[in-house]
Amino acid sequence: MSSRTCLSIILAAGEGTRMKSTKPKVLHEIAGLPMVAHVVRAAQAAGAGDVALVVGHGAEAVRTAATSFAGNTESFVQPERLGTAHAALAARTAIARGYDDILVMFGDTPLVEAHALTAAREKLAAGNAVVVIGFRPPNPAGYGRLIEENGALVAIREDKDCSPEEKKIGFCNGGLMAIAGTHALALLDAVGNKNAKGEFYLTDIVEIAHAKGLGVVATEASYENVLGINNRAELAEAETIWQNRKRREMMLGGVTLIAPETVFFSHDTEIGAETVVEPNVYFATGVKIAGGATIHAFSQLEGATVATGASVGPFARLRPGADLGENAKVGNFCEVKKATIEAGAKVNHLSYIGDARIGAKANIGAGTITCNYDGYSKFFTDIGAGAFVGSNSALVAPIRIGAGAYVASGSVITEEVPDDALAFGRARQKTLPERAKQLRERRAAAKK
Ligand code: UD1
Ligand code: CA
Repeated sequence: MSSRTCLSIILAAGEGTRMKSTKPKVLHEIAGLPMVAHVVRAAQAAGAGDVALVVGHGAEAVRTAATSFAGNTESFVQPERLGTAHAALAARTAIARGYDDILVMFGDTPLVEAHALTAAREKLAAGNAVVVIGFRPPNPAGYGRLIEENGALVAIREDKDCSPEEKKIGFCNGGLMAIAGTHALALLDAVGNKNAKGEFYLTDIVEIAHAKGLGVVATEASYENVLGINNRAELAEAETIWQNRKRREMMLGGVTLIAPETVFFSHDTEIGAETVVEPNVYFATGVKIAGGATIHAFSQLEGATVATGASVGPFARLRPGADLGENAKVGNFCEVKKATIEAGAKVNHLSYIGDARIGAKANIGAGTITCNYDGYSKFFTDIGAGAFVGSNSALVAPIRIGAGAYVASGSVITEEVPDDALAFGRARQKTLPERAKQLRERRAAAKK
């Protein structure tokens, strides 16, 4: 199998008006990745060395996006939407290069898994010319029916072209097909458009191949594998299925999810074994967590790295560039952005740490704010190892607080604090004995 070459053609020229969006349908995201990128990944995982993306006229956004998630993807334009076979032929020059296997996939069917594609490719390797990926939907209305005779697939009839008898067939076309490269162009070129929709149907190659005496078979995949997305409700349904798959994969990989249904991952979330994730945690893109960390309830993480033994939350927000060292702690109602919290350092309560380094074992008191922005530029705060910053301090960047230094509570620090120095950045307390009582008496008398 691995020696067989494979081209995946991904059809993405749909109008997608039912998304009610200015964004092309296939760029709507699941787990933070465009649908079509999920399809590209599945194709690549199934051994498709080359990917041809067929987009509609003017779908520059899709082409541009494609280069970011699949650098080696070629794109082709289908200038008019004349049907799925016509769309596949937009990639004619790619097909003509000569591949053993051609996979035709849809850009709006994002939950397809590599194993479903590999199963189809295996049937090609066994000598078949066309392999259709079928499924049994709860309600077959709207899908092309697989017409079988004596175990062979003889035709696919689109719903609109079905006889009442054929409408009763439950085995349907999932839309995805594998075609032997040697026959692909001849089969696609033979497709006509005499049907209810007046379109060139890819599905017609089944009948054409069968008439030529070529091997045509169906494989069966789960409903999710062929789930096509046409509106935002279906998009959310696909997101749920994707999240459930990912949760299971995480748990089987050794991650504890106490309430898996409340934890949301991105396509690229990485978490090591023995990490515990409490309920209601959201992982946006770019998060890497080592084994043995704890993510407490109601935290949101994005673009963050968390080392072994570190603890996040409850109610913490890690933004891009947050980097927590071993056994570091970021506690409740803290926000960390573009900052390194070195090993064993603690930012436990109500703090904002942005554009900063917090040295190993430093302790940042409740309510500490790094004032990193003057409305124009961002500035850096450097806090040395073992420093202690008292509660409710404002550290006005650029600023350096040395190793082992101590900042008194309630300070506004605007000048460097050297190593091991003690800094007060607040007015001294003045206490006037009995004065409160006198004040009260004077006010009460005045009111009378
Ligand atoms: C298709 C199948 C049907 C199957 C169903 C499964 C055909 C003819 N029919 O029907 O048997 O049960 O999928 O969901 O293949 N596209 C283009 N250019 C075109 C037409 C379509 O790029 O000219 C793309 C669309 O963007 C879409 C995909 O091809 O991603 C499928 O087209 P669509 O019209 O949605 O086909 P279905 O009616 O869903
Ligand atoms: Ca469809």
